[in-house]
Amino acid sequence: MPSQIKSGIQFSALGLRAKSPTIERLMTAALDNPKLLSLAAGFTDNASLPHNVVRSAVNELTRRESKETLQYGLNQGRPLLRKQLAVHLATWEPQLMDAAADTRFFVTNGSQQALYLAMQVLCEPGDIVLVDRPSYFVFLEMLVAMGVRAISMPVDEHGRLNQSALKQRLTELELSGDRQRIKAVYFVSYYSNPSSRSLDEVEKRELAVTLTGQGLVIPVIEDAAYRDLYFSERSATPSTLTLSEWADFPKLYLSTLTKPFATGLKVGYGYCTEPDWLARMLHTKGHHDFGSANFNQAIIERVITDGGFERQLGDIRPMYLRKMLALHETLIAEGLRELGWTWSKPEGGLYLWLEAPENLDTGLATAFCRKCIDAGVLYVPGELCFGDEAPANFIRMSFGVLGETDLREAALRFVKVARSYSV
Ligand SMILES: Cc1ncc(COP(=O)(O)O)c(C=O)c1O
Repeated sequence: MPSQIKSGIQFSALGLRAKSPTIERLMTAALDNPKLLSLAAGFTDNASLPHNVVRSAVNELTRRESKETLQYGLNQGRPLLRKQLAVHLATWEPQLMDAAADTRFFVTNGSQQALYLAMQVLCEPGDIVLVDRPSYFVFLEMLVAMGVRAISMPVDEHGRLNQSALKQRLTELELSGDRQRIKAVYFVSYYSNPSSRSLDEVEKRELAVTLTGQGLVIPVIEDAAYRDLYFSERSATPSTLTLSEWADFPKLYLSTLTKPFATGLKVGYGYCTEPDWLARMLHTKGHHDFGSANFNQAIIERVITDGGFERQLGDIRPMYLRKMLALHETLIAEGLRELGWTWSKPEGGLYLWLEAPENLDTGLATAFCRKCIDAGVLYVPGELCFGDEAPANFIRMSFGVLGETDLREAALRFVKVARSYSV
């Protein structure tokens, strides 16, 4: 009997490749041990979730005569919400505001679904996606499950894209006959998960020039999930949607209302410049669910209309800054830098990205990781965040969920373990 036949079920290649996402395993570890302080999950702050704002939106929606919001909605998303998203995007890039802007938006079950749709309509098993380094590990795991290869775009010692190394990499792919398999380029452009780094304008422009020079005017997916979550100053860097070097590329810009508002409503969105690409993603979305939860979209619509979304952002930006500082400053005060660890202070997002001394392996299966869990602190091993050639000495810490006191305690526990490993 073929080995994949179990209990009469014969799974597809996709079903067989699908593994439990690492994040689920990390969350289970946290649930199994209530004393564990988890810096692993990319959850948002619990205490500041907009309970009252959502309650009054729900009251308002259910008081109305019309029950339309409890009915199925449109596959592409609610028209008013798409208009509101167009206005929101135009606060960053006013030149994107035109009468048809809302027709390029589509609302998804979190931006995660938009990522899946984009890959589903572009890639076959064996195809290649160029990814940032490090990259969003849930996306990387999705590519593995789809049989799609992630190839990292090389970076320099400061994490900036290294254009000449990228050219060389692309030439190697040409020589090996793999270039035709490159179907898209993906990166997280603002306060990235996991690095908290933002691409600067020059490197963003140069990337388009490098790809064009190699004849690769391919779909670009700009994941701007954290663009709204700056701490004090908005990033002045434009998106690929308005940089002239990217003009000829088919572009999908993704963002979300989960991280900046309510993760539980799971409302995300995309803006696609190519009608054909958009149509195929929408057909596929029709097969997934023929529309994201209409009521959740209506709540967001209401909250944007009455200013609750902007007020929430105004509240959480300084709160995340305080939480980031609680973790960052405790790690410094406890002497982690003296132990040879390095990291940058983020300007937004939810993460610290730490590089351990070169010889220290921080992977999921290592004694270091085990010792941290035993000491009551959990992190995401950096090895998960690389499309290829993963170094073993990085970790991601999230300051999203825990309160400031717990963040300080988690930092103390972590540095204690790190110290026990220093020579
Ligand atoms: C970079 C990035 N993109 C996309 C997502 C998906 O988020 P959501 O589906 O909640 O919009 C996340 C979530 O952590 C993320 O970090």
